Amino acid sequence: MDIFLRKFQDKENRKGRVEQFFKSDLFSSFKDETVIFDLEIGCGHGHWLNAYSDSNTDIICVGIDLISKRILRSNNKKLNNKRKNVSFFKAEANEFLLYKPSNFKIRNTFILFPDPWPKKKHHKRRLIQESFLSLLRENTLPDSLIFFRTDHLDYHDWTIQKLGDSKSWGIIDTIWPFEHESYFQNLLPNYKSIISQAL
Ligand SMILES: C[S@@+](CC[C@H](N)C(=O)[O-])C[C@H]1O[C@@H](n2cnc3c(N)ncnc32)[C@H](O)[C@@H]1O
Repeated sequence: MDIFLRKFQDKENRKGRVEQFFKSDLFSSFKDETVIFDLEIGCGHGHWLNAYSDSNTDIICVGIDLISKRILRSNNKKLNNKRKNVSFFKAEANEFLLYKPSNFKIRNTFILFPDPWPKKKHHKRRLIQESFLSLLRENTLPDSLIFFRTDHLDYHDWTIQKLGDSKSWGIIDTIWPFEHESYFQNLLPNYKSIISQAL
């Protein structure tokens, strides 16, 4: 079994771990009742979010990923450049949203090159599901945006459909806020983007 899952086998432990993250130094200077941050889900090695945080020093940036080594590398990049407004945390997206204290609200959510799970029998593993979209909406500001990018045409069409069917999100036509290659964008230059706004 993965060392992480051995250490955090039960849900209460994992919930406590997420709550502890929100008590970390990253948030310590914010005394307001509602603390706002931007979130990248599946941040990989942190190339994109580290660069984004340099251009957006007025907002806290959080990157999450399932893979410990990627989080370690992301946090090393942050430390090497003494960045103060960004942090990377190992977590599964749905659990992170479920266990996040409710006074922390998400402004922008970035999902760049998510795992496409191409086989039909694996589509249920895709991140973009109705349940995920409504859980995300419960944790965002009212005018929050999702920025989604993929090279996988079927996952693009799937996401258009899920957002179209969603009661919490609508698709809008606006500009991508910050361009910087992620690891996967560098490998996969033919991609499509979708921007969605909370309803
Ligand atoms: C194809 S990689 C893309 C990484 C990065 N966004 C990029 O563009 O280079 C997808 C990443 O999403 C992470 N991931 C997949 N499902 C996730 C989930 N449910 N919660 C958090 N991270 C997830 C994977 O571990 C992986 O690092």
